Amino acid sequence: MVNDPGSLPPYQDKQSLRNEMAARRAALTQPDRLAYDRRLTDIFCAQTFFRDAAAVLVYLAFRSEPSTDTIIETALQAGKLVAAPQTRRAGPIMRAFRLTNLQDVTVGEWGMREPRVVVEEPIAPEVFDLIVVPGLAFTLRGDRLGYGGGYYDRYLPLIRQDALSVGIGYEFQVIDRLPAEPFDRRVDGLVTPSRVIACAMD
Ligand SMILES: Nc1ncnc2c1ncn2[C@@H]1O[C@H](COP(=O)(O)OP(=O)(O)OP(=O)(O)O)[C@@H](O)[C@H]1O
Ligand SMILES: [Mg+2]
Repeated sequence: MVNDPGSLPPYQDKQSLRNEMAARRAALTQPDRLAYDRRLTDIFCAQTFFRDAAAVLVYLAFRSEPSTDTIIETALQAGKLVAAPQTRRAGPIMRAFRLTNLQDVTVGEWGMREPRVVVEEPIAPEVFDLIVVPGLAFTLRGDRLGYGGGYYDRYLPLIRQDALSVGIGYEFQVIDRLPAEPFDRRVDGLVTPSRVIACAMD
């Protein structure tokens, strides 16, 4: 039932879809969440696009977002350059700061964890080979619904053409259609606890 995309109306406005998806995600039981996150992480870390990436930008999970902590630890152990986003109300562009361990984080303006930045400069978007993108809903063709700040919509045009953007979500977050506006950026791929989806770019 939870995994049935047909249980959602084919089209909802962005805000009602955000509310519905956030509620469904928050309603996951802790054992389900742990099991899903473990499967998702195992699948993600086994992918060639992850193994081959030298530099990765990975979100730090907020509220009921799928945890990326093990992805980050695996990347650090493999010697990759790892960064996480910092967002500020005052600046519409997300910035990426290096993360050398998962403890080196602080809580930012929106209540999200972010790298504890002391003196380092942000890492330029062109440095990254792989960007791990959060979302409240996705489609098979890579359409994405975020929290509504437009931060990823503004950041993704700045990454290299050959870099990959990969969304992470639970199965019920992959739906048939979602409202997309001209500025909405698609992701190149999706990983869920049960599959990897290469999004068709038609
Ligand atoms: N490239 C852009 N330049 C300027 N404004 C933009 C751009 N992309 C998006 N926006 C603005 O951001 C706002 C939020 O966009 P949207 O509702 O798609 O957010 P979202 O994709 O859910 O959020 P996020 O990307 O932070 O997860 C919109 O009002 C839009 O005008
Ligand atoms: Mg958008």
